[in-house]
Amino acid sequence: MAESSQKFQAKKFQAPKGTRDFYPADLAVRRHIESVWRQVSINHGFEEIDGPTFEHLDLYTHKSGPGIVSELFQVMSGKDAEQLAAIRSGGAAPYALRPEFTPTLARMVAARAPELPRPIKWFAIPSHFRAESPQRGRLREFMQWNVDFIGDDSPRADAEVIATAINSMEALGLVSSMVRVHIFDRRLSEAKAAAMGIEGEKYIGLLWIMDNFGKLSEERLRAEFNKHQLRSEDIEKALAYAQLTARVRAAGPLTTETARELGFTVEMAAPVHETLRHLDSMGYGGWCEFDPGIVRGLAYYTGTVFEIHEASGAERAIAGGGRYDNLIESFGGPKLPACGFGMGDVVLANILKDKGLLKPPEEYLPRPDAFVIAANDDVAARVPAIVADLRRQNLHVRQSYKTTRNVGKLLGDAGKCRARYAVILGAELNATPPRVALKDMDSGEQREIPLSELAGALRAPAGIPPSLEGGG
Ligand code: HAM
Repeated sequence: MAESSQKFQAKKFQAPKGTRDFYPADLAVRRHIESVWRQVSINHGFEEIDGPTFEHLDLYTHKSGPGIVSELFQVMSGKDAEQLAAIRSGGAAPYALRPEFTPTLARMVAARAPELPRPIKWFAIPSHFRAESPQRGRLREFMQWNVDFIGDDSPRADAEVIATAINSMEALGLVSSMVRVHIFDRRLSEAKAAAMGIEGEKYIGLLWIMDNFGKLSEERLRAEFNKHQLRSEDIEKALAYAQLTARVRAAGPLTTETARELGFTVEMAAPVHETLRHLDSMGYGGWCEFDPGIVRGLAYYTGTVFEIHEASGAERAIAGGGRYDNLIESFGGPKLPACGFGMGDVVLANILKDKGLLKPPEEYLPRPDAFVIAANDDVAARVPAIVADLRRQNLHVRQSYKTTRNVGKLLGDAGKCRARYAVILGAELNATPPRVALKDMDSGEQREIPLSELAGALRAPAGIPPSLEGGG
């Protein structure tokens, strides 16, 4: 067959805007954060779940509210020409990439509610997709740790959820002076909104305005109001409310008078204060504050709402969550109260980096137990069998793929990949019994040991085990 005369055309591609390529050291840093999230979840009694990366679009238009819906990546199968035509003429695709996990979780609980043990305590660490304008702390694809406590409507459950979030930050090295957990209760803002004549769909619009107050200009907020069922007098009321909460926050702790101005009584704020008391009893009081400026943009929250921010307020939220007691029922399940949060990896990693709480990325890569070096051509052929045997014994073993037998250079390679030991195979491998040189890469100490004892020596926590002392 004649060779094709057509020349191969190279074409360079970049990762899509707002997404990240994770090279090994980058992924190792992400895995470090995820492993803390996972361990802290398990320590607090949560079990891991996962769900689909894309869902029926309606799952998100159902209850999440206008903010999320405007950021959906819509998806279709690509097989259906009719669907494509419908989308081109202004219709929606049948699916959307997951912008958040809560609707999936609510769907999963609703589907199996009778058989699930109570309370249901679940966590998940999936990737999420939002069609945002990429900027610091905001990407189009990000990881988000979700922790949700279902079947308990008490402030104690709210406090346990919030404590889980704080404990993860503690475990990553943050301290209470570096972050603030702002806590409020939706029922309090709802009471004020109702008194202002802002209810139902209009209240969802008010939440959106409150949530974006201080993030978007007032001009922009006014320009957006039409999309959120608010009339111009409503938006002025909503802005006045947002300004008032900002003023009250700046004035310090809540008093009877400031509560009255915000439209609620101190008694109405009792549940959120009980949550704060529980957090205090767990030693987390110093991290948390009552904050009437927090309402959250998502439509489904019904009670406690909270956001975690870097203390100076410079960054976007590290985490946000709250109580959503009607969502599961709205997906056809039983009436089950629930409370949870989502914590993203992007803002958190920025903050950890800025505060010097991350090591150089390479240091998160797994350290090999051994790097095997052949010092001469005679023994080189035996490397694969020795390496395979060590790996079969669950050891992390690397080898040189270079043709050089220059031990000094190869030890340099062992150092570069941060191996704990270099195993040097030389003439002694042909002795009876065969022996190898074992070099501790941290201390520089080198000993000769029988090949039969190599796996045991590599498994030893640090240094050469005493039983092998003098074995050279
Ligand atoms: P959310 O406030 O939309 O809540 O997101 C929670 C966290 O996810 C944010 O504080 C932020 O750290 C991260 N995040 C959100 N969008 C982006 C983005 N575009 N780029 C980077 N990070 C981002 C929820 O998603 C709720 N479903 C959380 C929840 C769980 N509520 C109850 N259970």
